Amino acid sequence: MELIPLTPDYPLTAFDCGDEDLNKFLLDDAKPSQELRIANTFILEADDGRIAAYFCLLSDKVSKDEVIGSRWKKVRSRFPKGKQFRSYPSVKIGRLAVSVDFRGLHVGKTMMKMLVNKLQIERNALAFRFITVDAYLSAVPFYEKNGFVHLTKKDEDEHTRLMYFDMMEIDG
Ligand SMILES: CC(C)(COP(=O)(O)OP(=O)(O)OC[C@H]1O[C@@H](n2cnc3c(N)ncnc32)[C@H](O)[C@@H]1OP(=O)(O)O)[C@@H](O)C(=O)NCCC(=O)NCCS
Repeated sequence: MELIPLTPDYPLTAFDCGDEDLNKFLLDDAKPSQELRIANTFILEADDGRIAAYFCLLSDKVSKDEVIGSRWKKVRSRFPKGKQFRSYPSVKIGRLAVSVDFRGLHVGKTMMKMLVNKLQIERNALAFRFITVDAYLSAVPFYEKNGFVHLTKKDEDEHTRLMYFDMMEIDG
């Protein structure tokens, strides 16, 4: 499998991950979003050319305003005195999906490793500390298995949960 940055001439074919919004984003919105510089998409292409999965990335921040007291202390305690700010730069996973044809084969896990490696390579070009995601409730266990943790309890009753991954986890 190969991770390919989406380009204007990339032939987007049918993609079904079982979620209409995520299917539609890839086919209709990924290229315009890239053109407008609001989200960059990457395709995981199978050896036979099918689209196995995709994700898109955009800039974000982890901010004190989104987090209840004790959780924010946890985030802030990762930084030395003098570097304890009200927010920290992050990269957000805007969308992420695996085709139903490739489900349960650790394709998501493999793609997440590629995503983190890709961002690690970019660390000298752009400073960011965390990866964030608004995880569908059904996908929360998947993100937990990939090292993501909840950022706040405020969203416990919502249909997505804000989660984050600390890039320093892979430095240590
Ligand atoms: C969530 C999703 C990306 C997982 O992709 P996947 O390729 O099937 O997952 P993987 O095979 O890489 O799973 C990695 C691990 O997470 C576990 N896992 C994956 N999805 C899970 C789920 N929904 N519930 C519980 N565990 C799950 C797997 O069992 C596996 O565990 P293991 O390492 O102990 O064997 C995929 O199901 C999907 O695209 N779903 C629809 C779209 C979606 O929800 N996207 C997320 C939007 S925030």
